[in-house]
Amino acid sequence: MAALISLSLWCIWLSILILLSAASKDPNPITAKPGENVTLRCQAPNNNILVVEWRKADLKEEYVLLYRDGHLYPDDQLLSFKNRVDLQDRQMKDGDVSLILKNVTINDTGTYECRVFMRGANRRKRANLDGDPSNILYLSVDPP
Ligand SMILES: *[C@@H]1O[C@H](CO)[C@@H](O)[C@H](O)[C@H]1NC(C)=O
Ligand SMILES: *[C@@H]1O[C@H](CO)[C@@H](O)[C@H](O)[C@H]1NC(C)=O
Ligand SMILES: *[C@@H]1O[C@H](CO)[C@@H](O)[C@H](O)[C@H]1NC(C)=O
Repeated sequence: MAALISLSLWCIWLSILILLSAASKDPNPITAKPGENVTLRCQAPNNNILVVEWRKADLKEEYVLLYRDGHLYPDDQLLSFKNRVDLQDRQMKDGDVSLILKNVTINDTGTYECRVFMRGANRRKRANLDGDPSNILYLSVDPP
């Protein structure tokens, strides 16, 4: 029994250590307070953009924001982000596909992934992720 408890304590410690090291290794941490608007930056090489996908790592089955071929797709968007997100520049001039997230809550804390598919990138290139830039950002919303 005691062995079982110490084993589970050890497992908890290990997962905390793994989580801490994952968080500290993150290259782009962004911090905010509840109610603030944040900009999650992402840059494509130019505005020859076919698809922009913004996802949250723990909610991958739907999108934070999906843009394809000139349109936004609110039906494929997570409910919790509806009416709270927009592209910083709808024209995506100079390839700026940054996301504005308004009125953040502590539940928005997490890892966000930006993925861009450029027009004309052929399949071989795509397999190499060449011409399909992506960016991973970590957002931390702290209680006030
Ligand atoms: C967030 O953006 C909205 C709309 O763009 C604006 O009305 C509001 O004042 C902004 N909030 C903050 C805290 O800047
Ligand atoms: C911001 O979100 C909170 C709840 O998360 C809500 O009560 C409040 O009305 C929202 N503010 C704006 C300006 O949308
Ligand atoms: C965060 O999510 C929990 C569980 O879904 C919910 O009960 C809570 O109201 C949310 N908090 C805010 C600030 O939106």
